[in-house]
Amino acid sequence: MSISNLHKYKFFMTCLLAVLLASCTPSKRHYLIGVSQCSEDSWRSKLSAELEQSTYFNEDVSVVLRSADDNIEQQRKQIQELVDMNVDLLIVSPQQTGNLSDVVSIAMEKDIPVILFDRKTGADNYTAFIGADNYLIGQMMADYAADQMGRRGNIVEIAGEHNSSPAIERHMGFNDAISKYPDIHIIGYAEGDWKQRSGEEAMKKILSELYPTKDGNLQPGPEINCVFGGNDRMAVGARVALEYFKQTHPDASFINPSKTIYLGVDALPTPGGGMQKVSEGVLTVSAIYPTHGDELMELALNILNGKSYEKETQLETSLVTQSNARVLLMQYKEIESQIQYIKRMHARVDTILGQLDTERIILFGIIGMTLILAVFSIITVRAYRIKQQLNQELFRKNEELNEEKAVVERQRDQLEEQCDQLLDMTEKLKVSAVNEGKKTDAPQATSPSSPQPTPLQDHHGEENRFVDRFLLYVDDHLSDSDLSVEDIGADLGLSRVQLYRKIKTMTGKTPVEIIREERLKRAKVLLEDSSLSISEVAYKVGFSAPSYFTKCYKDYYGKAPSGK
Ligand code: FRU
Repeated sequence: MSISNLHKYKFFMTCLLAVLLASCTPSKRHYLIGVSQCSEDSWRSKLSAELEQSTYFNEDVSVVLRSADDNIEQQRKQIQELVDMNVDLLIVSPQQTGNLSDVVSIAMEKDIPVILFDRKTGADNYTAFIGADNYLIGQMMADYAADQMGRRGNIVEIAGEHNSSPAIERHMGFNDAISKYPDIHIIGYAEGDWKQRSGEEAMKKILSELYPTKDGNLQPGPEINCVFGGNDRMAVGARVALEYFKQTHPDASFINPSKTIYLGVDALPTPGGGMQKVSEGVLTVSAIYPTHGDELMELALNILNGKSYEKETQLETSLVTQSNARVLLMQYKEIESQIQYIKRMHARVDTILGQLDTERIILFGIIGMTLILAVFSIITVRAYRIKQQLNQELFRKNEELNEEKAVVERQRDQLEEQCDQLLDMTEKLKVSAVNEGKKTDAPQATSPSSPQPTPLQDHHGEENRFVDRFLLYVDDHLSDSDLSVEDIGADLGLSRVQLYRKIKTMTGKTPVEIIREERLKRAKVLLEDSSLSISEVAYKVGFSAPSYFTKCYKDYYGKAPSGK
């Protein structure tokens, strides 16, 4: 393959690789959203689960969750970590107001949008807020309670965590609304930390303040008609404390746990949540405090994708009472089973996508290999054709060469014979010239080259032995294509002319003829007894051109040589 072709192939392979890589690279931008939860409980778990589920429908988003377990310093550290991770957006539910606005500002300065949800920091430096209207929830609770109480009676309030925005707003909404009812009085107030145990402790504290013990005797006090808990768990805790008080003070007529109205907030539809507590009659009413992870994710994506969004989004709320709790629970169960189904489908889709990915890689691999094979096949076929052309060319050249060799070989033989004849004639002429001279200048001298007179028999015996030596020599050197009469003579101790004469006299044939005959005889034997080809035999018996061998063979045996 030429250099330019090689470059073309290299370029082709590079393009192919680039196309394969490009088709494997996701083109859409992927977003990482950091979520900082202030605490851990069933309400937060539900929200986190909803956020993760919404990523099923937004493949280009992933969520990293952190939970501070009601520890402000921990939450500050976790937010800082998320900022350092360079998340694309932060979702924060701050534990208390006034404590985390500084670290939120750091994120905002780094151009990381911040969504506050459910709770506020107390500062304005955030991108958007999403949550229910806690002031309204407080108001709704107050109006419902007033209605149930016949607009008269006493209420105990157990507020949520000190300094947290939902606790403050619910308290304000509730108190503002209650103040419209002159015959309703809030006779006790304590704060909890949103957990059931804290509701219980807060209630115990209020009871000990309302009904102190003097000299071992319980002092009577105002009747408790209603308990407003900052959330469902604290309201349940308050009821537990009230029931315990009644058990330990059965004569306390001002305490009647089963007739008391219990108000809570959250109305979680999950097992053991507020909705179930209302349906079981443990709580009288609860307000839905929605999690709505789906809406939270939609807001986040609108911000990330530069779409329009509301800075303040208020999620709707509604009261859950004994008349609708069962229906709402049934609906939730239905939705939950749909969610589980979607989860299973998602897992299946994930598996299928994983398989598809593998298959895609295999497919690209096969396509790549096929193309590489195709390229190599083309190269091989081309190389094979070139080789064939070269072989043909070589064969043709070889034929030409053989022809030339045959001509040269024939001419060489002819020349050798002519040379022998010429030398012989020259010698004869020389001898006759000498003899002429002797006739005139007697006494006569013998020619230096003429053989010495020997007894006839000895002479013949010697000559025969010489011919045998000659033949033996020829047989030994048959395969030598350069074997010349000159060399044989030198090796046998005779001049070329002497050798020629001797052989010619004894056999009637020239040395060249005898050498050729010996070669042809050996060739005949080889052709009959071995599996060698005609050319191989020709070379073996000292011919350098097979075509010349064929000609000589035909002249000698009257038929062309044929192999076995
Ligand atoms: C959950 C929770 C809810 C409450 C909300 C107020 O952590 O305590 O029970 O309604 O937070 O932010």
